[in-house]
Amino acid sequence: ALVSTKEILQDAYQNHYAVGAFGAHNLEIIKAVIAGAEKMDAPVILQTTPGTIKYVGIHYMKAMVEAAAETAKVPIAIHLDHGDSFDIVMKCIRAGYTSVMIDGSHLPFNENLQLVKKVVEAAHAANVPVEAELGTIGGVEDDLEVEESSAFYTDPELAEQFVLETQIDSFAPAFGTAHGMYKQEPKLQFDLLNSIHSRIDCPLVMHGASGVPAESVQHALNYGIAKVNFSTELKDVFAEALRLYFRENPSQNDPRKYFVPASNAVKEIVVEKISMLQSPLKV
Ligand code: 13P
Ligand code: ZN
Ligand code: NA
Repeated sequence: ALVSTKEILQDAYQNHYAVGAFGAHNLEIIKAVIAGAEKMDAPVILQTTPGTIKYVGIHYMKAMVEAAAETAKVPIAIHLDHGDSFDIVMKCIRAGYTSVMIDGSHLPFNENLQLVKKVVEAAHAANVPVEAELGTIGGVEDDLEVEESSAFYTDPELAEQFVLETQIDSFAPAFGTAHGMYKQEPKLQFDLLNSIHSRIDCPLVMHGASGVPAESVQHALNYGIAKVNFSTELKDVFAEALRLYFRENPSQNDPRKYFVPASNAVKEIVVEKISMLQSPLKV
């Protein structure tokens, strides 16, 4: 069944686990994520960036959202990841998305605030919850590239003001994660996360979770993290399984065959991530 992120994230937030949010780029990955969630009997968030929507086409996305709603045996939310304009948010809501992120984190504080307010007003009128970000998460996500050096952490006082004034439903702080894999193990700022968590009463979102060690992800669940975003690791296992398949079967031309191991690899990693997020370490 299709649900909004509001209900599944509130439950996770109150019970100190997190819902996995997986970047999906095509039909195979969408189906593999759902299969993984069904194996775990867990709610799941499928998310697409504006770049993916452009690639797939919003009408196909709408049809896949409807198909997922009709057939999935677990609660599924379809979320716009790093929405970069009011327009794309409206497009997604019209296509049946049940959750959106508006990312104005590159804007000056007041402009970010105004953009998010405007999106929240429109989205809430359609009963769609909104995620927003303050501070800058480093790394590369689609067309969005942030130098590690220009990434900066979220200020807890500004975060409090931001969440109060915008009335967003979930908040993505910058506390040391980055999009993509890491050259060195990331240093997560748990004290900062804790002080943000203590000022804000809404579920927090960890971006850039690919490459973050399981203990660090699980530790963050003690500080209000209720949604954890994975994209790069799914892309990596999908592509690696395809490369391996074609090395072993260089003349295979049937997509119904060569996508199978790649889809299974995605399903497996989704199962692994969900079980990690459901069994937080109490430390
Ligand atoms: P990773 O690619 O590091 O998993 O980050 C995903 C993400 O934050 C999507 O918004
Ligand atoms: Zn992200
Ligand atoms: Na990452």
